[in-house]
Amino acid sequence: MKILVLNGSPRRNGTVALLLKAVTEPLAAGHEVEWIDVSRLAMKFCTACMTCRETEACVLPEDDAHIVGKKIREADALVIGTPTHWGNMSAPLKLLFDRNVPSFMGESPGGMPVPRQKGKRVAIVTACTTPWPFNFILPESRGAIRAVKEILHYGGCKTVGTITQPGSKKAKGISASLAARANRLGKRLVRD
Ligand SMILES: Cc1cc2nc3c(=O)[nH]c(=O)nc-3n(C[C@H](O)[C@H](O)[C@H](O)COP(=O)(O)O)c2cc1C
Repeated sequence: MKILVLNGSPRRNGTVALLLKAVTEPLAAGHEVEWIDVSRLAMKFCTACMTCRETEACVLPEDDAHIVGKKIREADALVIGTPTHWGNMSAPLKLLFDRNVPSFMGESPGGMPVPRQKGKRVAIVTACTTPWPFNFILPESRGAIRAVKEILHYGGCKTVGTITQPGSKKAKGISASLAARANRLGKRLVRD
């Protein structure tokens, strides 16, 4: 399977990257895994022209958002990682999704959303400094996961599972048990 990893953290070796590595570790042998550091992409902001809703393509000059959009469409499964930033996904990841509405969603003639990634399997990982259980009582990592799931919902994707590292400031890395859970999530991602 073609697995596309979207690291939404600007930190290449941060907590989200550790979680993403743990999810993809068991997949490296039998699958084609591509890793994208989203914050390193050159992408213009979405101008909200809404043309893509009619034409199914972004009218902006070709940049990395077009290139990664194609990779998203061609992937069999996605592993999406984001730090919690203001109770949401990171800005670079949000920009990639803003620029790729037609990769996930079309519109019927009557203006109803049409899913374009039906059944695509997705794993989500996130981290935040807020400790457990406040990261879920308050919309901290819960907010980040909800925001990513909003896009996946309109795409018709299947979220296979989520992994969160709360209290990341004190935790300094991820525990062996969290890494093992992430490994298991990776294996579930490619299971029929
Ligand atoms: C701009 C910004 C906003 C943040 N907002 C939140 C937040 O709303 N809630 C929270 O618990 N942590 C917040 N954090 C902390 C990060 O979620 C936390 O440091 C996370 O572990 C970073 O993961 P990384 O090392 O993979 O980048 C924020 C960090 C930054 C830089």
